[in-house]
Amino acid sequence: MKTATMILDRDYAIGTIDKRIYGSFIEHLGRAVYGGIYEPEHPTADRNGFRRDVIDMVKKLGVPVVRYPGGNFVSGFNWEDSVGPRADRPKRLDLAWFTTETNEVGLHEFADWCKQVDSEVMYAINLGTRDPDAARNAVEYANHKGGSYYSDLRVKNGAKEPFDIKLWCLGNEMDGPWQICRKTAYEYGRAASESAKVMKWVDPSIEVVACGSSGRDVSTYGSWEYTMLDECYENIDYVSLHTYYGNRDNDTPAFLARSLQMEQFIREVVSICDAVGAKKRNKKKLGLSFDEWNVWYHSNEQDQGILKADRWGRALPLLEDIYNFEDALLVGSMLITLLRNADRVKIACMAQLVNVIAPIMTRNGGGVWAQTIYWPLFQASKYGRGTALKPVVQSPLYDCKDIEAVPTLDATATLADDGSVTIFAVNRDMKDDLTLSVDLRAFGDLRVAEHSVLHHDDMKAVNTEASPDTVKPAAGSLGTMDGGKLTITLPSLSWNVVRLIKA
Ligand code: AHR
Repeated sequence: MKTATMILDRDYAIGTIDKRIYGSFIEHLGRAVYGGIYEPEHPTADRNGFRRDVIDMVKKLGVPVVRYPGGNFVSGFNWEDSVGPRADRPKRLDLAWFTTETNEVGLHEFADWCKQVDSEVMYAINLGTRDPDAARNAVEYANHKGGSYYSDLRVKNGAKEPFDIKLWCLGNEMDGPWQICRKTAYEYGRAASESAKVMKWVDPSIEVVACGSSGRDVSTYGSWEYTMLDECYENIDYVSLHTYYGNRDNDTPAFLARSLQMEQFIREVVSICDAVGAKKRNKKKLGLSFDEWNVWYHSNEQDQGILKADRWGRALPLLEDIYNFEDALLVGSMLITLLRNADRVKIACMAQLVNVIAPIMTRNGGGVWAQTIYWPLFQASKYGRGTALKPVVQSPLYDCKDIEAVPTLDATATLADDGSVTIFAVNRDMKDDLTLSVDLRAFGDLRVAEHSVLHHDDMKAVNTEASPDTVKPAAGSLGTMDGGKLTITLPSLSWNVVRLIKA
């Protein structure tokens, strides 16, 4: 059996975990909204048409913030279309996904839904076809108490109290050629800066996220961040990062190592932010908003066929990746990566939440179930609160395609306010279990309250409506404590959550 070690100390901390790193994302795309969270004909629908079974599942998952309404969709979206009497709202051609947007669900409905799932709205404004004027009007509509044109319009539309949206995205992936009205880095930096400025003049309490590159592999990566930040650094609070991974070559060791690239991505963007800050002699440190991350590749070919057959359709089953067990392992490692960078990553959104590359799936008129990737997010959000610790880890290594010296053990730990410690760990080894020894002497008397293991013998196992529990966490071995040292077995290919409480 292979062995690994971990040393933890309460004084060796990365920083306070911002609960918003467990956020998610709902775009007007596919069946995320229509047929996902909203289905008025469904037996569980509430008086607003929202599925109560989905509300319960999202609430249980624990996503403190939900980015909305896009994504690529937002770059052609007029927020005004989505407010006022439903019967008067226009149907629009959505050029991001070549479908028809009916605007049946809009800002008021979504803000209400967020309250029901105990989430905060992270609202994206359109910097594709629109400009700072539309952005500042949206802030006035959503957040101003009343006595002005747009705030009074909100009141007239049924919301006396402001929505008080604190987090705003300044567009989406504005570097991408697929974006409706993409911009150069300079053009975007100027638009983001002026938008942020006037939005904050309307409501100084808001925070704004500027678009970083749409991915680490695009040719303008790095120079995009530097140029746009040079224009907008003073007026923004966060820079976005997006990444999706896939296992197209069916090379699991390489696939599971992709979180190392995510880590590198974070470090690089932090460096660029700090370089621009240093050049400007600006003491402000920007945070990172990893507002799109996930596995995404299973549905790509299918989507092309769907759009060919039904261009301009409504609520088409697009981006409906069915996640398997190995996907959940990488998602676990991506969550560990976010925790390891908790000092700079303050917001993160698993993309997306329901049906569209999502942890939660629904059938129209039918059930709702958790995909494999639901479980690591659920457990990290539930137990990964408080302080992110900085463990010293020693692990066996392996080499794989593109990446050398990949630690077999990917692990980190958190310290909650009540003094309990939680270890999150992925054993990437394809064959061998791993004996992990953890030095916890700095925490006094602890005992293992729970060891939860996500494992399946078939890496391609999935959950379905008929078999929703095929891949779900089960009780692990618990391990043994001796003189403040824990020894525990992490099965080969497994996601582990080990909770230690005061003895
Ligand atoms: O999440 C799906 C899409 O991926 C989003 O609309 C876009 O921002 C990204 O390219």
